Amino acid sequence: MAVITNIEDLRRMYQARVPKMFYDYAESGSWTEQTFRENSSDFDEIYLRQRVAVDMDNRSTKSQLIGQDVSMPVALAPVGLTGMQHFDGEIKAAQAAADFGVPYCLSTMSICSIEDVAENTSAPFWMQVYTLKDDDFMQRLFDRAKDAKCSAAVITVDLQLLGQRHKDLKNGLSAPPKLTPKSVANMMTKVRWGLGMLQTKRRFFGNIVGHASGVTDPSSLSSWTAQAFDQSLDWDRIREFRKMWDGPLIIKGIIDPRDALEACNVGADAIVVSNHGGRQLDGAISSIKALEPIMDAVGDKIEVHLDSGIRSGQDVLKALAMGAKGTWIGRAYVYGLGAMGQEGVTKALEIIHKELDTSMALCGRRDVTKVDRDILYVPKGFSDGWDA
Ligand SMILES: Cc1cc2nc3c(=O)[nH]c(=O)nc-3n(C[C@H](O)[C@H](O)[C@H](O)COP(=O)(O)O)c2cc1C
Repeated sequence: MAVITNIEDLRRMYQARVPKMFYDYAESGSWTEQTFRENSSDFDEIYLRQRVAVDMDNRSTKSQLIGQDVSMPVALAPVGLTGMQHFDGEIKAAQAAADFGVPYCLSTMSICSIEDVAENTSAPFWMQVYTLKDDDFMQRLFDRAKDAKCSAAVITVDLQLLGQRHKDLKNGLSAPPKLTPKSVANMMTKVRWGLGMLQTKRRFFGNIVGHASGVTDPSSLSSWTAQAFDQSLDWDRIREFRKMWDGPLIIKGIIDPRDALEACNVGADAIVVSNHGGRQLDGAISSIKALEPIMDAVGDKIEVHLDSGIRSGQDVLKALAMGAKGTWIGRAYVYGLGAMGQEGVTKALEIIHKELDTSMALCGRRDVTKVDRDILYVPKGFSDGWDA
């Protein structure tokens, strides 16, 4: 087997092993994909400051996210349809995260249900909730998360409607995949994936089928979203959700400092600076560019995390040095999962951990919780210089 040394190796292996419909679902952004691309390329504009002859012995990447101990400040982001990238994908990813000592966040749009993941993994996980019109469904979702002993709820606020991803429409994305001559021809070339899928019964949206009423076609992400998601969502509605969940609460999908302040006002414990991996508003600024103004506005009021575009430990280090307390990865672990199942998720975490640890050391730092902007060269005007 080829030697895997970086996240890009996993992506290539993933592309070869998983049906095109699901690869394309993960590896795309909305419309022109500008934001999707810039999420990653903007990290390259920031340079790390190398220091030498500084004692780098006894390093630590340990930290805390919302008061929970983590082996490094990297969480696995909620990713819909993970169980289509690899059989029982959510369980495998959650277990890899538990073994590594980092949080796993389960998506509302998962294939394995909340109960499935709780029964088959060894550590509490975080539950992501989309904001739907159906109050009963919402209350039940929070109750189910509580019964499953989830250690945080994550409300995603940037998806009341779906940013269009052209490839999903062209591929007829669904779970389970619709059998057309084209999709069958492609799936027949993905033998390992197919044999895995035959081993499991988990092929539908496990949190929705049997739990939500009035859903006519639960296999189709776009039709379900259009029917069920609440386009009238506002901060008052989010306050109602806050009342439905009395545990730690994270608000995900903040790109503007004004929205970050609103999130503080509803009593969230943390926010995730995120543009949904470039899958929603195409043309939005990258998360790493959005971070500094948000830190200025709320950095002393709330814990700030960041996702979107992270593909390496160097990216994690840059986000931490810009002020984020934690980072989340989406595609980076999905590549690993599609490539090699649970082992691949572990591999992705190992790669990022090693890169983070080594880069921190070469910047002359030993404690990940203490890295700051002093280890960076940030170009002038990186996060400002726009007309308001
Ligand atoms: C295939 C895919 C599905 C996603 N599904 C969800 C989801 O169900 N809920 C959610 O809050 N975010 C979802 N996201 C966004 C991720 O949680 C995260 O914000 C994003 O992946 C971060 O960008 P990155 O992939 O560049 O790391 C999804 C992202 C991807 C790539």
